[in-house]
Amino acid sequence: MCGIVGYIGSQDAQEILLKGLEKLEYRGYDSAGIALAHDNGITISKEKGRIADLRKIVDAPGLATVGIGHTRWATHGAPSRLNAHPHQSSSGRFTIVHNGVIENEAELKRDYLSKVALQSDTDTEAIVQLVERFVNEGNSTEEAFRLTLQLLHGSYALALLDAADTETIYVAKNKSPLLVGLGKDGNVIASDAAAMLHMTDRFLEIMDEEMVIVKKDKVTIQKRDGSEVKRAEFIVELNENELDKGTYPHYMLKEIDEQPLVVRKMMEAYLNEDGKLSIDDQIIQAMNETDRIYIIACGTSYHAGLVGKQLIEKLAHVPTEVHIASEFSYNMPLLSKKPFFIFISQSGETADSRAVLVKVKALEFPTLTITNVPHSTLSREADNTLLLHAGPEIAVASTKAYTAQVTVLSILANMIAKDKGIENLSYELAIAASTMEVLCNEKKKIEQLTQQFLTASRNAFFIGRSIDYYVALEGALKLKEISYIQAEGFPGGELKHGPIALIETGTPVIALTTQANVNASIRSNIKEVEARGANTCIISMEGLEEKGDKFVIPAVQELLTPLVSVIPLQLLAYYAALQRGCDIDKPRNLAKSVTVE
Ligand code: F6R
Repeated sequence: MCGIVGYIGSQDAQEILLKGLEKLEYRGYDSAGIALAHDNGITISKEKGRIADLRKIVDAPGLATVGIGHTRWATHGAPSRLNAHPHQSSSGRFTIVHNGVIENEAELKRDYLSKVALQSDTDTEAIVQLVERFVNEGNSTEEAFRLTLQLLHGSYALALLDAADTETIYVAKNKSPLLVGLGKDGNVIASDAAAMLHMTDRFLEIMDEEMVIVKKDKVTIQKRDGSEVKRAEFIVELNENELDKGTYPHYMLKEIDEQPLVVRKMMEAYLNEDGKLSIDDQIIQAMNETDRIYIIACGTSYHAGLVGKQLIEKLAHVPTEVHIASEFSYNMPLLSKKPFFIFISQSGETADSRAVLVKVKALEFPTLTITNVPHSTLSREADNTLLLHAGPEIAVASTKAYTAQVTVLSILANMIAKDKGIENLSYELAIAASTMEVLCNEKKKIEQLTQQFLTASRNAFFIGRSIDYYVALEGALKLKEISYIQAEGFPGGELKHGPIALIETGTPVIALTTQANVNASIRSNIKEVEARGANTCIISMEGLEEKGDKFVIPAVQELLTPLVSVIPLQLLAYYAALQRGCDIDKPRNLAKSVTVE
C-alpha cells in the first residue's frame, strides 16, 4: 500500500528517492512520483504504473539534494497521473506526499477550501491546500502544518516541502507507518526501513500525532502542542542482500523454498539454554491466567490463526476464538472475564488489526503480537512480541510468514500445554522441516498437476475437514490472489448444504486429507463431487493414501500437517499464475502492507 520516502542531505536526492521507491514496490502500488527541491523551485515528476515508468520521465534541472517520493495505492480517486502524489498547493509553494486516508476530507474541503480550485480527486490535496491557507493567514510553515494536523481525522504519514525554505522537510504521522533514518551526511524518511537501508541502518520511531522537523543535520520530534520529544535511535538489523531475489524468477518461489530454513531458524531462535523450545515466561504466565484467547488477524495470518486455535485448544485446552480484524473492530463479541489477545501480522502494520489493538489496549487487556517485523507498529504497541525470523517477505502473496506463524503458534501452544503438549516438539518440527524440503523439490510434479487441473479453469474449490479445512482456505486464497482463478475453500461436510450446486463437469476440486479421524468422511465428500462431474485432485498424507490420489505427503505429526500440506497448494497457485502469465509478485489490486482500514 502507499509508501513514502524523503531525503535531505548533500547527495543526489533523485537517485536516493527512486531507489527507495523501488524498495517499496513490494508493498503494492499503482502510480508513483517524486518532488525535488531546486534553487528555483520544486520539480514534480509522477506517472501511473511502475517506478520504471517514472524513471523514464524524471527530468530534474540539475542536482537536487532534497526531495520526497511516493508510491500510491488508490483509495480516493482512480489510479492516474493526476491523482498520483506529490500534490501541490495552488501557488505551487507547498508540495506533499501522504500515506493514509483523511476521513473528514469532505468537511475540510467544504469548511476551509470552498474557494480553492482543487486539481485532483484525492483527500491528500486538502492537506497541502490547508497548509497554504494557514500560511496565507500569516502563520509560519511550521505553525500552519501544526494547525492543519489538528484538523485531520484519519490516518496519515506525511512529508511536506516548502519551496521558500528547501532546508526542511516537515513530517507527521498518525496510524500510518513512518520512520526517520539518520544518515552520515543527511537524513531520510521512509514508510519502512527496507526503503532506506541503502542510506542508513539507524532509525527513530515516530509515534502517532507527532510532528517532525527534518533538516540535513538535525531531527526534531514534537508533540501536537509543539513541545519537544527526545527519542533514542534503534538499529535495524536487516541485510540488504536479503531483499534480493537472487537467481529466482520470482520472490514468491524463493520464499516458498525458504520455508524449511525458516522453521529451522525459528527452532534455533526459540531454543532455551536447556535445549528446549521455549517462550518468554512473562508471556506464558499471562496466558496461563486467561480464561479465553482471542486471535485477531487478516487474510493469510487469519488462516494461520485458525490453525493456532486448533493447536491451543487441542494441546492446552484453553478456549480460543479467531476473528477477522476488520469484523471484530466494529462488531466486538461479548468477551470473557479474562481475555488474552494475540495479533498475528506478517507486516506488523495492518491497519485493521491495529484498530483492534488500540481498542483492547484501551480496555487494558493483555496483548501479544506475532510478527515478522521488529519495531513494527503492532510490535511496539502490544505488551509482548514473538518474532517470526522469516526474513523479509517481499512477494505480496504470503508463504513463509504463514509457516513461520504456524511454527511459533505450535511452540506457544506446547508451552501452555505443559506436559499435555506434543512430546519432543523439536524433533517433530525438524521432521516437518525436512518434509517441507522434500515437497519443495516436487515442483515438476506440481507444475504438471497445475496444468491438468487449474491452468484452463475459471474456478476451483478446495475442500478439507478439521485442520485441513483451514489449509484449504489458505490454498484457495493463494490461488485467487495471484492467478485470478475464482477459488473458494469449504469444509467437506458443508458442500451438500449449498456449494455443491456449483459443481459441474470438469470443475476442479482440490481435496486435502491428512487427518485420520476425518479421512473416511472427506473421502465420502470427494465421491459426492466426483458423482457430479468434478475433476478431483486428492492430496493425502502417507498412511491415509489411496489409489488414485494425485499427491502423497510424507507423514508428519498430525497437528503440524499445515506446515507441509500448504506447500503443494502454494506451488499450485504459483504455477497456475505462471502458466496464465500473471504478475506473480505484484498481483493486481493487492498491497503487501495494508495500512488503511
Ligand atoms: C495473502 C496475504 C494477505 C495478508 C493480510 C494480512 O497472501 O498476504 O492476506 O496475510 O493482508 O497481512 P499481515 O499479515 O501483514 O497483517
